[in-house]
Amino acid sequence: MKKTPLLAAVMACLFSLQATVAAELPRLVTHDGRHALLVDGKPFLILGAQAHNSSNYPAALKQVWDAARDIKANTVLMPVAWEQVEPEEGRFDFSFVDTLVAEARQQRKHLVLLWFATWKNTSAQYTPAWVKLAPKRFPAMLDQEGKPSYCLSPFGDETLKADKRAFVALMSHLKKIDAEQRTVLMVQVENEVGTYGLVRDYAPAAQAAFEQDVPAAVRARKKAPVPGAASGNWRAVYGDYADEYFHAWAIARYIGDIAAAGRAVYDLPMFVNNALRNPLEQPPKPWNKNFASGGPSHDVIDIYKAAAPAIDIVGPDIYNFESAQVNANLALFQRPDNALWVPEIGTKPAYGRFLYAMLGRGAIGVSPFGVDYFNYSNHPLGATATDRTLVEPFERIYRMFAPIQRLWAQWAFEGRTQGIAEGDDRQPQQLDFPGWTAKLTYRLGRFGEASWGGEFAKPAPGTEEPSGGVAMAQIAPDEFILIGHRVRVRMEPAGGTSGMMLRAEQGHFDGQGRWQMERVLNGDQVDWGLNLPAEPVMLKVRMGRPR
Ligand code: DGJ
Repeated sequence: MKKTPLLAAVMACLFSLQATVAAELPRLVTHDGRHALLVDGKPFLILGAQAHNSSNYPAALKQVWDAARDIKANTVLMPVAWEQVEPEEGRFDFSFVDTLVAEARQQRKHLVLLWFATWKNTSAQYTPAWVKLAPKRFPAMLDQEGKPSYCLSPFGDETLKADKRAFVALMSHLKKIDAEQRTVLMVQVENEVGTYGLVRDYAPAAQAAFEQDVPAAVRARKKAPVPGAASGNWRAVYGDYADEYFHAWAIARYIGDIAAAGRAVYDLPMFVNNALRNPLEQPPKPWNKNFASGGPSHDVIDIYKAAAPAIDIVGPDIYNFESAQVNANLALFQRPDNALWVPEIGTKPAYGRFLYAMLGRGAIGVSPFGVDYFNYSNHPLGATATDRTLVEPFERIYRMFAPIQRLWAQWAFEGRTQGIAEGDDRQPQQLDFPGWTAKLTYRLGRFGEASWGGEFAKPAPGTEEPSGGVAMAQIAPDEFILIGHRVRVRMEPAGGTSGMMLRAEQGHFDGQGRWQMERVLNGDQVDWGLNLPAEPVMLKVRMGRPR
């Protein structure tokens, strides 16, 4: 083909467009209050696996990759410790990051990096020795008597400068090694920040800041608990909540500054994670030493948004499997200004079913913590197992979503998905979609009605503990994809209209996103609702209305 100047110009333009699309960094987008993580320009669902805290060394990686493969994760969450990348001040060593990124590519996994620095679970234990040994230069918070706390102060200017410099060096290095392939999707800045036992810093610089007026950006987002107390210093505006809100602002500002500096060199999405307060205590009571003050708990998300605009997401770390708590936390952290992203969830089998609730609600992803065959278990937070049984409760659900993760993320972004996990009360539930309702019941066998009595009324074997759940996508007005296990689903027309199930297919999607029917369910398999078995299945259900 002979190129005319016009054709050449069009081709050059197309080529540069292609290059722009190919070079697009992962980023978060929001539409109608819903969120998606775009990877190579399309929504991506993170099916994560977080390694143990001490697995950030080359020799530890094999056990991480093995577990990540077995659970069918597409992304591994891995700490990068300040102490390991800057063992001596100003001398950076990113050899672990190089190994990690290279091996992740071989394993065909994405990465989320966790920057363990000034604060890891509120403490300074991941700072380099040269930081730990210089408390005058890198000061701790002081209590009211001037006694140092275990926790580094967010007013330590030198600490902030040093942490930021190391983080910027990390992000510059990442840009150098990963801007083209983009194996790393997001970065967590610090880990479970806040302070136990002390509500805020009382050192002179902190006290002076506390006596200043609350910054307008904070006041605009975080309303005063006392009506009318709209301006003035922290005490005047926030009363009994002043100290903890001030500490949240101080920490958020510190983290936000680090994140912004990192993004200025390499602009990846960034987030923080949270050691949760009890979400059922509403309204949350003022500080009573029962949570990490200043951490990004649900009640101070607005302060984090105001003080740390470079942080995209505040994510809940879920280590309480009471269903009311899990559901409350998901609702509190899913907001039009905060994508739902669960960077940690315990590995006990009881947590598995909540994946349906998270992915159904439209989370951008989830990651069980301690998915790693290292001979260590964080029981009782997680499972006791350190072998393949560790991953089973999650693998069976990841297995269903992994092949369609892009599709699911797209449906979720369009608001088509919902999901729910069996409650601790084992009671019926329902999911309401436009035009149709899914009625859900648990503990039933797969044949007959409990109302018949006798054996039919007994809970089905294997349902002793709550374990069921379902995620559904309404892919057309009268068509649904269901993924779930151990639940009876009955589809009904909503709001007094008439309608019926016309066809239920069991099947899967192929690599090209095309539905592959395996069998049509009829007869026994639909007479008593759609009874999803102990192992998850995927169904495509078509509903219809008589004309
Ligand atoms: C939450 C922290 O963020 C993790 O790093 C880890 O310490 C777990 N708690 C407990 O295993």
